[in-house]
Formats: sequence, C-alpha cells, structure tokens
Amino acid sequence: MEVAYQKCINPVCGATFGIEEILPACPKCGELLDVTYDWDKVELPAKAADLGAFTKPSGGFCRVSGVWRFGQMMPFASEGKRATIGEGHTQLRPAPRVADYVGLKNLHLQYEGLNPSGSFKDNGMAGAFTHAKMVGAKVVACASTGNTSASMAAFAANTGMAGIIFIGDGKVAYGKLSQALDYGAMTLLIKGDFDDAMARVQEVCKSEGIYLVNSVNPFRLEGQKTIMYRVLEGFDWNIPDWIVVPGGNLGNSSAFGKAFYELYDLGLIAKMPRIAVINSEGAPTLNNLVRSGLKWNGGTVDDAMIGAYYRGLDERNERANTIASAIEINRPVNLKKCLRAIEKTEGVVRAVSDQQIIDAKAWIAREGLGCEPASAASVAGTKALVEEGIIDRDATVACILTGHQLKDPHATVAYHSYSEEDLKADYGQYGISTSEYANKPVPVANDLGQIIDAIRAKAAKN
Ligand code: F0G
Repeated sequence: MEVAYQKCINPVCGATFGIEEILPACPKCGELLDVTYDWDKVELPAKAADLGAFTKPSGGFCRVSGVWRFGQMMPFASEGKRATIGEGHTQLRPAPRVADYVGLKNLHLQYEGLNPSGSFKDNGMAGAFTHAKMVGAKVVACASTGNTSASMAAFAANTGMAGIIFIGDGKVAYGKLSQALDYGAMTLLIKGDFDDAMARVQEVCKSEGIYLVNSVNPFRLEGQKTIMYRVLEGFDWNIPDWIVVPGGNLGNSSAFGKAFYELYDLGLIAKMPRIAVINSEGAPTLNNLVRSGLKWNGGTVDDAMIGAYYRGLDERNERANTIASAIEINRPVNLKKCLRAIEKTEGVVRAVSDQQIIDAKAWIAREGLGCEPASAASVAGTKALVEEGIIDRDATVACILTGHQLKDPHATVAYHSYSEEDLKADYGQYGISTSEYANKPVPVANDLGQIIDAIRAKAAKN
C-alpha cells in the first residue's frame, strides 16, 4: 500500500482509492472521502514539539509556508508540487479583555485573518492546489460565501490555473467579491444562495471535468489541519481544554478533529481538546440536528433524520439568513465528518444570535484584532457555553478568528455608526439593534475650538 490514499468515511463501505484520482465523493457509496496515511511509512518526530520546525530541508517556498512546515503530517504531497502563497503565518494571542467579556480567566484568539487572502481558507487551498498540480488540473472551481472564492482566485492566479466561482447573487460581502474579481477568476453570480451555488458547482465540475476545491475535497482539509498544529504550538504543545470554531460548511471543525485524533492515535499528544462548533441561529442545521440527537455513532449516521430535516427546510422554503454571511449555509457538505469530530473530541454545538455575534465582534476588535462577523460566532458561542457552565471558568480556550475585519467593512461601519432606523433598513432582517458597545464617529465643524471641545468632552466622559 502507498503512504497516502483516499478512503471512504463510511465504515461499512471503507473503499480506498489512490491519491492520483480526482473524487469529490466515494464512487461506491457517495459518502465523503478522507486522505488516509500508512503512518508506519512516515518519518515522524518522537514528540509533537518537534513538529513544524521552520528549517525543514524542503527547500524554497516550503520554508515560508506555515502549512508546509507541517508537511510530515500531510505526506501526500510530492515535494516539487507544493502550492503556497505564503499562508499560515498566523498568531495565537492571549485576549484578556475578551476573556473578561466571556467570563474566562484564560482565552486565546487564533488570528487566521493574517493569511494572505485574509482568511483561514489559504491553509486549505495550499493542500487542494497541491493535489490539483499533482493531477495536472488546469481549471478549478468552487461555490462560496466569499472567502473560499477569494483564496481560490489567489491560488489560481499564482499557479496559472483558470478559476471559476459560483456565488449567490447579493450574498457576498464586498471585500471578498473585490478579491475574486481582482485576482481574475470568472465570477458567476447565481440567482440563489450558497446552498444553490454548492449544488450547481458540483454538477458543473462533474459534467466539465473541472477540479473542485470546496471542502468536500479531502486534500483541502489536510491543509486546514495545520491551524490546529499552530494553535498547539502557540500553547507550547500544552493541550488546551477547548477549541471553539464557527460552523458553516463544517470543513474546519472536521479538519480540526482529524488533526487531533491523528496526533492522539500516533501518541504525539496525550489528550485531545474538546471542539465546540458554533452556528448562527440564522443557519442552524448542525445545532438543530445534533441537539435532536443526531450522532456519528461510529459511522452509522441516521440518514433518515438528515433527509427529513432537509425536506422540512424545502417544504417551508426556509433559507439560511444571517449577518455572518460566511456561515449562511443550511446544507453543510461536511456534516458527517463534523459529527465524527464531535464524537471523537467530546465536542458540543451551539447556535448564537446575530446580535450576540456582532457584539462579540466589537469586543474582539477592542483587543486590537479585527475579524468579520462569522469569526465572532466563536467568541459569542464561548460566552454562551461559559454561562451555561459547559465551559469551566478556569478552562484554557482558543477561539478561531477565521476571517479578517476588512472582508465585510459594511457590517462594521453600520454597527458602530448607524441610527436605529438605518440599521433596521439595512440589517433589520437579522434582528440587530444599536448597541452600547458602538463606537460612534463624531461629526465636527472644521474649527479648532470645536474640535478641541469635542476631544475634551470625550475625555471627560471616560
Ligand atoms: N468563518 C469564515 C470567515 C468563513 O469564510 C467560513 C466559511 C466559516 C467561518 C465556516 O467554516 O465552512 O469550514 O465551517 N466560508 C466558506 C466560503 C463557506 O465559501 O468562504 P466551515
């Protein structure tokens, strides 16, 4: 057997395929695939702290990639084919003010907005584009709520492939759309939402032989494992109690779970952190299903329950609807892999309101870390779980800030500066009100006296 192969996640099927095959799903049973390794054939360090050295003799670009410095944990990639745009130089930062806000003593924020295209997606695209290069792909495509498309378009430009993007018309934040257009990808604005775009791109890729880089692509999730290696590295390989992550298409939570149980099974870590996956109440599929009892169940998932849930959505014509547009997804493609991650890490799920999300976002920014609304779901969810007593106040927690503040400046400016009336007009559908945390701009005449008066008035208030 080769070192790396693809394997169906359904234990009843368990079919395996070579890594040279391009498979968006198991051809035998239709389930998702994993990239799986024969670890006996992989040279690994004796302890986790020796993973990820910056000086691996891999040459050239790999030295500057925060993904490929963990190449030992992704041994599918042929050396000369590794794709990179300099991703993964991200930081785990202590966040004392946000810790106070959520009621914890020790909260850290993993700032994935520092990636070159401004979101965690670059970690995954390094994996997917490496595989795309290995199989000789020339055209790549994705459906997106915005960040996947921005990242894909950057990698496509960098590797000289043609990129095609499927976006729900009117459903994408401007920062992200601007990136896709600027990087030169063909951008299809489909009349519909992300769930429609996701269904269409899969059909088109199948019919036209185009390489799909959405997170059904298991090579993408390999790259996203490195977010967790960097978090553990940030804690000096002391294992935190909780990782809290926003849940949309559920690729991240799935990849995080895989990162942990691989390290655990290899004896490189002695325990696994628990994963909390946070939905927006406006896109609550995972939360609703798990809280109704849906489980991984060793791989025997209740498909009838999932089918009935989706039929219900169709019958009521219920669409995802949240200010956290990045996670405005009702049919997450990685649902089953996420259930597996939850089971293996004793994880939990929650849904939080858009007001909770957008207030948490303002607190995160007060820490000097700017994120987009979806990212703040992690902090809002942590607060809810601390209040419920699920996360202990003494716990060590890392929240993942998935995307940069400048991805969606409109939401930020509206939150801080709009009147209640204007906020209702633009964001009323999400049930957002003006907030005590808003930092209102101060209009002032071009007059020295009035400017000084305004500054003194503000100082007197503080
Ligand atoms: N946060 C941000 C900023 C995202 O862009 C996404 C997903 C998520 C969280 C959710 O992550 O899908 O792994 O559960 N954005 C995708 C996109 C769907 O198209 O950009 P997930």
